[in-house]
Amino acid sequence: MKQFRIILFAVALVFAFGWQNVYGQETFTSPDGKLVLQFEVKDGVPYYALNRDGKPVVLPSKMGFTLEWRDDLAHAFVLKDVKFSTFDETWEPVWGEEAQIRNHYNEMLVTLEQPVGSVESMDHSTEKKATVMLIRFRLYDDGLGFRYEFPMENALVYFWIEEELTEFAMTGDHTAWWIPGDYDTQEYNYTESKLSEIRGLYDAAHTGNGWPWKSFSPTGVQTALQMKTADGLYLNIHEAAVLDFPTMNLDLNDEKFVFQVHLSPDATGYKGRIQTPCHTPWRTVMVCTSATDVLASRLILNLNDPCVLDDVSWIHPVKYMGVWWEMISGKNTWSYTDQYPSVKLGQTDYEHAKPHGRHAANNENVRRYIDFAAENGFDALLIEGWNIGWEDWYGKQKDYVFDFITPYPDFDLPALNKYAHEKGIRLIMHHESSSSTINYEHWMEQAYTLMNEYGYDAVKSGYVGKIIPYGEGHYSQPIINHYHYCITEAAKHHIMVNAHEAVRPTGLYRTWPNMIGNESAMGTEFQDRIKPGHTTILPFTRLQGGPMDYTPGIFVTDMGKIVPWGGKMNITICNQLGLYVTFYSPLQMAADFPEHYAQFMDAFQFIKDVAVDWDKTIYLEAEPGAYIVTARHPKISTLNLAAEGVGELADGKKGVISGAMRYVYAIPDSVQTMCTSSLPEPRDVWYVGGITDENAREIKVKLDFLKPGVKYEAIIYADAPDASGLSDNSTLQTSNSKLKYNPQAYTITKKKVTSKSVLKMKMAPCGGFAVSIREIR
Ligand code: NOJ
Ligand code: CA
Repeated sequence: MKQFRIILFAVALVFAFGWQNVYGQETFTSPDGKLVLQFEVKDGVPYYALNRDGKPVVLPSKMGFTLEWRDDLAHAFVLKDVKFSTFDETWEPVWGEEAQIRNHYNEMLVTLEQPVGSVESMDHSTEKKATVMLIRFRLYDDGLGFRYEFPMENALVYFWIEEELTEFAMTGDHTAWWIPGDYDTQEYNYTESKLSEIRGLYDAAHTGNGWPWKSFSPTGVQTALQMKTADGLYLNIHEAAVLDFPTMNLDLNDEKFVFQVHLSPDATGYKGRIQTPCHTPWRTVMVCTSATDVLASRLILNLNDPCVLDDVSWIHPVKYMGVWWEMISGKNTWSYTDQYPSVKLGQTDYEHAKPHGRHAANNENVRRYIDFAAENGFDALLIEGWNIGWEDWYGKQKDYVFDFITPYPDFDLPALNKYAHEKGIRLIMHHESSSSTINYEHWMEQAYTLMNEYGYDAVKSGYVGKIIPYGEGHYSQPIINHYHYCITEAAKHHIMVNAHEAVRPTGLYRTWPNMIGNESAMGTEFQDRIKPGHTTILPFTRLQGGPMDYTPGIFVTDMGKIVPWGGKMNITICNQLGLYVTFYSPLQMAADFPEHYAQFMDAFQFIKDVAVDWDKTIYLEAEPGAYIVTARHPKISTLNLAAEGVGELADGKKGVISGAMRYVYAIPDSVQTMCTSSLPEPRDVWYVGGITDENAREIKVKLDFLKPGVKYEAIIYADAPDASGLSDNSTLQTSNSKLKYNPQAYTITKKKVTSKSVLKMKMAPCGGFAVSIREIR
């Protein structure tokens, strides 16, 4: 399989260097020798510790589990075996921030046993076999991953986890960017504080996001947790490859600065029902000396398994628009009628219902969006609210809300798909499950089949509200299994999935690249509630596990211009442009209305031009909670895959989408075609983007990544000198110069540049910038 051709340099060789046995501790190092992992079993309890350059990063930390109905996996262990190996490969992701990723680590596998007679079994008898638990440690130059493994040959075959005891003992009162622990949502603003301050700030950090508060501890936080030590080390605790296991939260002992894992329980309180042979997800500690190294780390991705799909030709990047912002802004809505106090699918007469007139997904409106998206070179259009049931969709804990196959009377599904395809646009399907995973699984096959029938190849799914089965949380083991089931079933139908409110990703898209997006954090839908600086934190936290469907591109940022109750979003137009380069996602939306973009077509040009898939990424400067500046080089081979990949549509419209015209920024202006295979040698193109928090900043961008000796033209989109994205009523105004809210003030300039040029970029409060750089021929 070409995309996954693995260039293997060395596999699992046992090396005679890099580790040693010191004072009863098993020790090994990262490939560059800087990180050192120490492991020991002390009085029957396993401990690990991590050092960098001779200084502790993680102090000795306990490992193990407490179990229901059996003696815990927390004592009486003896070390039976230790094996070392090393691994070095370079692999090619189907889509991503770079064309090739190096996966280079040293590994230590320890085998632990609770010997026969040392622990009691369920019926208080002595187990006849030893209990075997392995811990696999991997050290990369930028961090540690470890997981627990349980072989079949074991006293334990089926067991129930009460809690995981893994600790992360910090060396001091680090600065952290955190959100409160939760079993259901990550839709929070981040708080920056010392670890010792978390308790005092906890209630305020629980910014009302409409979800019931299920925090388990006044110092409980979620991962990925970004921290910075007093010595300037950037530490990040997260997990990788969470499958068939609950999500990990962290509970902080704020006197000792020790985190302990706190797993999300299922409806009966268990935290993992285990059957051997199996293993846990990886627990990860990233250790970097700069913030840009955190953003460039591929630790989480590398700890996931290689792609399991034989054919990935149907997976492609997507730049899309949607009727979505009409609903989110409050201008229009998902539902069709106000006529009935309650609706029941199969019984409610929608055909004769009186429309309330605010249904956004109607034929005429959808055609208007298709026209605009096609004229401006987009790949796809998301239509929410196309299917019956939205009158009763939220907050009712109702199981049978949607069938995912029946359109509203004013949404002509076959005709709209045909219209879209003729213009080179795919419609994106929407499945809001209303958190009834049971109902969604019941209809899934029919729903995916309908998608195949009409040529949809991507679905946005959603999990708003409390999970059904009742009592489950969004992050418990059975619901983690549901999300995975959706991905695997979708793959069988050649469908790409973008799940909202599902668990935050943990790098699984390496294995299942049809998982092209997730929300799982506070995104644009939270509008004016998003704190300045939020988007400068997400790449360190939420995006470590995978791309986010953040839905950027809002140009009319004062929502009061749309609805009377609307507030002011803390952004400028240039901040929104900068996000397309800052946030990596193969699925990028231009979220605002066509009529809003029509007012600023010169700035909209950047969104039209920017790529969404890359062969090279350079994080130039960054600091969490402050600013990020990124440069990216597009992957030409996937630029137009969305249009090319169609070939034959199931609705019989062979090659219709292939007639699409795509704007390809890298090619000469005279050529306007989607067919990259027949293009002349593309020009060299780079995009640079910057974003800042409430503080205005000036950044010097060295263009030394450009090809030496080549001339380029840069188009620079910058905040105007009097621009500000900080709303007038923000409390943060006090620390600024009380600039007037002026988010739509920008300048666009053209400049000849080379690899020796330095661009001086000024960012307004809550602002940003974007630059397209194209080789001159
Ligand atoms: C919440 C999602 O995040 C949002 O994007 C979507 O429009 C609504 N749910 C309805 O499904
Ligand atoms: Ca959401």
